[in-house]
Amino acid sequence: METKEKRPVIFSGIQPSGMLTLGNYIGALRRFSELQDQYDCIYCVVDEHAITVRQNPADLRRRCLELTALYLASGLDPQKSILYCQSHVSAHAELAWILNCFTYMGELNRMTQFKDKSAKHADNINAGLFTYPVLMAADILLYQTSYVPVGADQKQHLELTRDIAQRFNGVYGDVFTVPEPLISKTGGRVMSLQEPERKMSKSDPEDTFISLIDDPDTIRRKIKRAVTDSESEIRFDPENKPGVSNLLNIISALTGESTDDICAGMAGQGYGALKTRVADCVIEALSPMQAEYKKLIADKEYLMKVQAESAEKAAYLAQKTLRKVQKKIGFAAR
Ligand code: AMP
Ligand code: TRP
Repeated sequence: METKEKRPVIFSGIQPSGMLTLGNYIGALRRFSELQDQYDCIYCVVDEHAITVRQNPADLRRRCLELTALYLASGLDPQKSILYCQSHVSAHAELAWILNCFTYMGELNRMTQFKDKSAKHADNINAGLFTYPVLMAADILLYQTSYVPVGADQKQHLELTRDIAQRFNGVYGDVFTVPEPLISKTGGRVMSLQEPERKMSKSDPEDTFISLIDDPDTIRRKIKRAVTDSESEIRFDPENKPGVSNLLNIISALTGESTDDICAGMAGQGYGALKTRVADCVIEALSPMQAEYKKLIADKEYLMKVQAESAEKAAYLAQKTLRKVQKKIGFAAR
């Protein structure tokens, strides 16, 4: 990926902790391929983050390949973008250790994802879950990243990453680029179909999310059962009508139409019609990717080749930053 003029770097990561949901797609994945012609894009399968929650080894290994296939199926081109597994590039863990020494307990204590996850996994509140955002900062800062496309739930982690970078730069000079989040206005937070006050998550029960490999019948069934409210008016009002507003948001994110226009266009129609419209939009958005995914997932060798070649490119770039950091800190010369 050596281009003549230097372009800003985009970095993002997704955990291989389950099949991705419509939330992952709208909040993150679908935007990745739109960026690859304008920027130097690096997309990571963050398996080291995934083990903060106990994983079955065979499942984890399989999901890393599945996520690589989904990256490709969503339109990412391995000639343009780097698509690799975090554990294949040791610099992530090495920089994370260093950055741990530049992060305060108080900062990590404030992270809402840590609070949520430790409530959910009360039997396994491990130190990795606590320092998870530091590893994420290392991921981003290793590549001199300018922009990080993520869902709204990652905003706090991005702010911490910026604080760590600025703190480090303040002591040692301009070592890290200070990154900015790219959070989409309409699709930054897709909510659960059953509890629309909570975000859609791949670790929740099946009927609360649309999986990216759900077939059209399953998608229609899940959306038909989505929780709405006891009124009948299609109106965008996230506070009082979270279920209906979530459905409107999904249409808006997938079609680009504003929620106002969608409501105006559906005036007088009921929730049944709204749900049909949502299902149509979701099926239309996911079908081409699903067809491509089916082909790719059958070719394990190709997927592993993409991972290996990308990891080599990523390691080269990461090593440059890591060496600079080690030198600034005063680690023994090699
Ligand atoms: P994760 O599955 O936690 O690794 O998330 C991968 C990416 O998807 C991150 O950028 C998240 O912010 C984004 N994401 C996850 N869930 C949602 C959601 N319900 N709505 C929007 N974005 C999401
Ligand atoms: N923490 C992110 C999530 O849970 C995943 C992630 C890890 C990430 N490292 C990253 C996202 C670096 C963007 C950049 O969704």
